[in-house]
Amino acid sequence: MDDDKSANQTEENATGMESAQDTIARIFGGSTHSLGAEMAQMSSRYEQLQKIEVPKPSVTRCIAVANQKGGVGKTSTTVNLSAALAQAGARVLVIDMDPQGNASTALGIPHGSGEQSVYDVLEGRASLHDVMVPCPDFDKLSVVPSSIDLSGAELEVADLSNRTELLRDALGQMLHSTSEHFDYVLVDCPPSLGLLVINAMCAVTEVLVPIQAEYYALEGLGQLINTIELVQEHYNPILLVSTMVVTMFDRRTLLSREVYEEVKKHYPNIVLDTTIPRTVKISEAPSFGQSVIAYDPKGLGAVAYLEAALEIAQRSPSVLAAISRKRRES
Ligand SMILES: Nc1ncnc2c1ncn2[C@@H]1O[C@H](COP(=O)(O)OP(=O)(O)OP(=O)(O)O)[C@@H](O)[C@H]1O
Ligand SMILES: [Mg+2]
Repeated sequence: MDDDKSANQTEENATGMESAQDTIARIFGGSTHSLGAEMAQMSSRYEQLQKIEVPKPSVTRCIAVANQKGGVGKTSTTVNLSAALAQAGARVLVIDMDPQGNASTALGIPHGSGEQSVYDVLEGRASLHDVMVPCPDFDKLSVVPSSIDLSGAELEVADLSNRTELLRDALGQMLHSTSEHFDYVLVDCPPSLGLLVINAMCAVTEVLVPIQAEYYALEGLGQLINTIELVQEHYNPILLVSTMVVTMFDRRTLLSREVYEEVKKHYPNIVLDTTIPRTVKISEAPSFGQSVIAYDPKGLGAVAYLEAALEIAQRSPSVLAAISRKRRES
């Protein structure tokens, strides 16, 4: 993007015309008109984000994006955060553990019945490496697609003694054996607390909880935290709820601001300062098989997810230190 900027400047020098960024700043900079001020601010936030280098974690961060509540923004967060991290230079793997396959769709990956998917991995027929495919929009982003067949997996593996460890074993094998290093692995979970989610929570070290800015936002969070505690107690003692992010935030409403304050009061060190705004582009992007980072790169939604990615990346040292402490104590 720096290239874009210098290309703009070169163009400006050659033609005597100013860049789009300068035009917006000239028209709206210091504007008291709210839309103008917002456009100027957005343009400058976007430009600043292009200059920042996102720090890479010292070891792979494996994060399950989970909340048993439906429609709170798990998939949008998984997809757009992954795309933002990949665009900023991190190597990222998305594992779609939801039979609905929304994350696969949103990243432009086919996932019809019969396509190789994470289902084959859980059933032991393939490795993660066998089924992973590159995302068409980002060189550094790979995807392990889901499949509708995955909906039967919970029953099919229910009698296996290692039924909670199927994804953990596959991920461990891939991270240790492959010559390719991933900085982040994000697992998109279905809206339930069943075996697929338990598999995800056993395979990772962190949980990211998206919270929709709505009246019942915190309802059900207790149940999610209880499940996470059960997983910590029985299967994965180092699992850490490292991140919460408020989604579909509408800064014009008191309710959105109150939900944010409430979440911040309960989880001050976990909730991101960045909130994800409710925007049409975020909801439109999946129908084009794209993340909002590719679909509308300079829009409000993309800028928010880029800022969230930066915040998550900057927190890596403290999160990894907390996980190491848990590992020593367990
Ligand atoms: N910030 C946003 N602005 C506008 N629409 C959004 C935003 N985030 C998500 N949506 C829309 O809300 C709906 C639910 O989002 P999403 O699929 O990400 O939630 P989910 O928690 O993964 O849902 P499920 O529980 O079904 O897996 C989708 O139609 C999505 O496009
Ligand atoms: Mg989803």
